Amino acid sequence: MSINRGISALRIVLAFAIVALLVTSSGCGTTSTASVTARGSVPPLVDALVAAGRPLYDANCASCHGLDGEGEPDWKTPRADGSYRPPPHDASGHTWHHSDRVLIELIAEGSDFAQSRMPAFDSILDDGQIIAILEYIKTWWGPEERDFQWGVSQQDA
Ligand code: HEC
Repeated sequence: MSINRGISALRIVLAFAIVALLVTSSGCGTTSTASVTARGSVPPLVDALVAAGRPLYDANCASCHGLDGEGEPDWKTPRADGSYRPPPHDASGHTWHHSDRVLIELIAEGSDFAQSRMPAFDSILDDGQIIAILEYIKTWWGPEERDFQWGVSQQDA
Protein backbone atom coordinates (compact mmCIF):
# COMPACT_ATOMS: atom_id res chain seq x y z
CA MET A 1 0.00 0.00 0.00
CA SER A 2 1.52 3.33 -1.00
CA ILE A 3 1.82 6.09 1.56
CA ASN A 4 -0.68 8.12 -0.41
CA ARG A 5 -3.20 5.31 -0.39
CA GLY A 6 -2.67 4.86 3.33
CA ILE A 7 -3.25 8.55 3.91
CA SER A 8 -6.37 8.51 1.74
CA ALA A 9 -7.72 5.55 3.67
CA LEU A 10 -7.00 7.32 6.94
CA ARG A 11 -8.75 10.38 5.64
CA ILE A 12 -11.85 8.42 4.77
CA VAL A 13 -11.85 6.73 8.17
CA LEU A 14 -11.54 10.13 9.83
CA ALA A 15 -14.37 11.53 7.72
CA PHE A 16 -16.53 8.59 8.75
CA ALA A 17 -15.59 9.10 12.37
CA ILE A 18 -16.62 12.74 12.20
CA VAL A 19 -19.87 11.90 10.43
CA ALA A 20 -20.59 9.19 13.00
CA LEU A 21 -19.86 11.65 15.78
CA LEU A 22 -22.13 14.24 14.22
CA VAL A 23 -24.93 11.75 13.70
CA THR A 24 -24.67 10.53 17.27
CA SER A 25 -24.56 14.02 18.71
CA SER A 26 -27.51 15.15 16.60
CA GLY A 27 -29.72 12.78 18.54
CA CYS A 28 -30.72 10.52 15.64
CA GLY A 29 -31.09 7.69 18.15
CA THR A 30 -34.19 9.23 19.64
CA THR A 31 -37.43 8.34 17.89
CA SER A 32 -39.60 10.86 19.65
CA THR A 33 -39.24 13.49 16.89
CA ALA A 34 -42.65 14.02 15.34
CA SER A 35 -41.50 14.03 11.74
CA VAL A 36 -38.03 13.53 10.39
CA THR A 37 -37.56 15.54 7.22
CA ALA A 38 -34.39 15.50 5.14
CA ARG A 39 -33.49 18.90 6.52
CA GLY A 40 -34.18 17.79 10.05
CA SER A 41 -31.43 15.23 9.70
CA VAL A 42 -28.74 17.79 8.91
CA PRO A 43 -26.64 18.01 12.06
CA PRO A 44 -25.85 21.43 13.44
CA LEU A 45 -22.34 22.71 12.80
CA VAL A 46 -19.85 21.93 15.56
CA ASP A 47 -18.81 25.25 17.11
CA ALA A 48 -15.35 24.03 18.11
CA LEU A 49 -14.61 22.88 14.55
CA VAL A 50 -15.87 26.16 13.09
CA ALA A 51 -13.68 28.11 15.54
CA ALA A 52 -10.65 26.00 14.64
CA GLY A 53 -11.36 26.24 10.92
CA ARG A 54 -11.73 30.02 10.65
CA PRO A 55 -8.06 31.03 11.26
CA LEU A 56 -6.86 28.11 9.14
CA TYR A 57 -9.09 29.22 6.28
CA ASP A 58 -7.99 32.85 6.67
CA ALA A 59 -4.32 31.86 6.58
CA ASN A 60 -4.41 29.26 3.80
CA CYS A 61 -7.40 29.88 1.56
CA ALA A 62 -8.60 33.47 1.81
CA SER A 63 -5.85 34.90 -0.41
CA CYS A 64 -7.46 33.14 -3.36
CA HIS A 65 -11.06 32.35 -2.33
CA GLY A 66 -11.71 35.57 -0.36
CA LEU A 67 -12.06 36.20 3.39
CA ASP A 68 -15.82 35.59 3.22
CA GLY A 69 -15.59 32.84 0.61
CA GLU A 70 -16.71 35.25 -2.09
CA GLY A 71 -14.21 33.95 -4.68
CA GLU A 72 -12.58 36.02 -7.37
CA PRO A 73 -14.80 38.42 -9.35
CA ASP A 74 -15.67 36.95 -12.75
CA TRP A 75 -14.72 33.52 -11.43
CA LYS A 76 -16.70 31.87 -14.20
CA THR A 77 -14.47 33.41 -16.89
CA PRO A 78 -11.04 31.78 -17.20
CA ARG A 79 -8.01 34.06 -17.25
CA ALA A 80 -6.28 34.99 -20.53
CA ASP A 81 -3.86 32.10 -20.02
CA GLY A 82 -6.78 29.66 -19.73
CA SER A 83 -6.39 29.03 -15.97
CA TYR A 84 -9.43 28.96 -13.70
CA ARG A 85 -10.09 31.69 -11.19
CA PRO A 86 -10.76 30.67 -7.57
CA PRO A 87 -14.51 30.14 -7.21
CA PRO A 88 -16.60 31.27 -4.22
CA HIS A 89 -17.30 28.82 -1.38
CA ASP A 90 -20.48 30.58 -0.29
CA ALA A 91 -23.94 29.67 -1.55
CA SER A 92 -23.27 31.37 -4.92
CA GLY A 93 -20.53 28.86 -5.80
CA HIS A 94 -20.71 25.11 -6.23
CA THR A 95 -18.56 23.86 -3.37
CA TRP A 96 -21.82 22.76 -1.71
CA HIS A 97 -22.61 20.50 -4.69
CA HIS A 98 -19.84 18.13 -3.60
CA SER A 99 -19.74 15.56 -0.81
CA ASP A 100 -17.49 15.89 2.23
CA ARG A 101 -15.35 13.05 0.87
CA VAL A 102 -14.80 14.77 -2.49
CA LEU A 103 -14.07 18.15 -0.88
CA ILE A 104 -11.64 16.75 1.69
CA GLU A 105 -9.79 14.89 -1.05
CA LEU A 106 -9.70 17.92 -3.34
CA ILE A 107 -8.32 20.19 -0.61
CA ALA A 108 -5.71 17.60 0.38
CA GLU A 109 -4.59 16.63 -3.09
CA GLY A 110 -5.33 19.79 -5.08
CA SER A 111 -7.33 19.86 -8.25
CA ASP A 112 -6.44 17.55 -11.10
CA PHE A 113 -7.71 19.97 -13.76
CA ALA A 114 -4.74 20.94 -15.93
CA GLN A 115 -5.89 24.59 -15.96
CA SER A 116 -6.32 24.72 -12.19
CA ARG A 117 -4.14 26.44 -9.65
CA MET A 118 -5.82 24.89 -6.64
CA PRO A 119 -2.83 23.70 -4.59
CA ALA A 120 -2.55 20.45 -2.63
CA PHE A 121 -2.59 21.04 1.12
CA ASP A 122 -1.75 17.59 2.46
CA SER A 123 1.80 18.62 3.34
CA ILE A 124 0.56 21.75 5.15
CA LEU A 125 -2.71 20.73 6.82
CA ASP A 126 -3.64 17.48 8.54
CA ASP A 127 -7.02 15.80 8.07
CA GLY A 128 -8.49 17.33 11.21
CA GLN A 129 -7.53 20.80 10.04
CA ILE A 130 -9.05 20.22 6.59
CA ILE A 131 -12.26 18.97 8.20
CA ALA A 132 -12.32 22.08 10.43
CA ILE A 133 -11.88 24.37 7.41
CA LEU A 134 -14.75 22.58 5.67
CA GLU A 135 -16.94 23.07 8.74
CA TYR A 136 -16.15 26.80 8.66
CA ILE A 137 -16.96 26.98 4.92
CA LYS A 138 -20.37 25.46 5.72
CA THR A 139 -21.26 28.53 7.81
CA TRP A 140 -21.66 30.39 4.50
CA TRP A 141 -24.40 28.08 3.27
CA GLY A 142 -28.11 28.48 3.81
CA PRO A 143 -30.43 25.66 4.91
CA GLU A 144 -30.99 24.49 1.34
CA GLU A 145 -27.31 24.20 0.48
CA ARG A 146 -26.64 22.48 3.81
CA ASP A 147 -29.51 20.11 3.21
CA PHE A 148 -28.38 19.26 -0.31
CA GLN A 149 -24.72 18.79 0.62
CA TRP A 150 -25.58 16.64 3.63
CA GLY A 151 -27.63 14.38 1.37
CA VAL A 152 -24.83 14.09 -1.18
CA SER A 153 -22.35 13.31 1.59
CA GLN A 154 -24.60 10.60 3.01
CA GLN A 155 -24.81 8.93 -0.41
CA ASP A 156 -21.06 9.20 -0.90
CA ALA A 157 -20.14 7.88 2.54
C1 HEC B 1 -3.45 29.85 -5.14
C2 HEC B 1 -4.87 30.02 -5.07
C3 HEC B 1 -5.67 29.05 -4.23
C4 HEC B 1 -5.54 28.80 -2.88
C5 HEC B 1 -4.52 29.37 -1.90
C6 HEC B 1 -6.60 27.88 -2.55
N1 HEC B 1 -7.34 27.60 -3.65
FE1 HEC B 1 -8.99 26.40 -3.74
N2 HEC B 1 -9.12 26.70 -5.75
C7 HEC B 1 -8.31 27.54 -6.49
C8 HEC B 1 -8.75 27.54 -7.87
C9 HEC B 1 -8.11 28.32 -9.01
C10 HEC B 1 -9.85 26.67 -7.93
C11 HEC B 1 -10.73 26.38 -9.17
C12 HEC B 1 -10.22 25.34 -10.05
C13 HEC B 1 -10.57 23.97 -9.64
O1 HEC B 1 -11.64 23.73 -9.04
O2 HEC B 1 -9.78 23.09 -9.95
C14 HEC B 1 -10.05 26.16 -6.59
C15 HEC B 1 -11.04 25.26 -6.24
C16 HEC B 1 -11.32 24.86 -4.95
C17 HEC B 1 -12.39 23.98 -4.58
C18 HEC B 1 -13.41 23.36 -5.54
C19 HEC B 1 -14.63 24.24 -5.55
C20 HEC B 1 -15.75 23.77 -6.42
O3 HEC B 1 -16.68 24.55 -6.58
O4 HEC B 1 -15.72 22.65 -6.93
C21 HEC B 1 -12.35 23.85 -3.22
C22 HEC B 1 -13.30 23.04 -2.35
C23 HEC B 1 -11.24 24.65 -2.76
N3 HEC B 1 -10.63 25.24 -3.82
C24 HEC B 1 -10.91 24.78 -1.43
C25 HEC B 1 -9.79 25.47 -0.98
C26 HEC B 1 -9.39 25.52 0.41
C27 HEC B 1 -10.18 24.92 1.56
C28 HEC B 1 -8.24 26.23 0.46
C29 HEC B 1 -7.37 26.49 1.65
C30 HEC B 1 -6.98 25.34 2.42
C31 HEC B 1 -7.93 26.64 -0.91
N4 HEC B 1 -8.90 26.15 -1.74
C32 HEC B 1 -6.83 27.40 -1.28
C33 HEC B 1 -7.26 28.28 -6.00
C34 HEC B 1 -6.81 28.30 -4.71
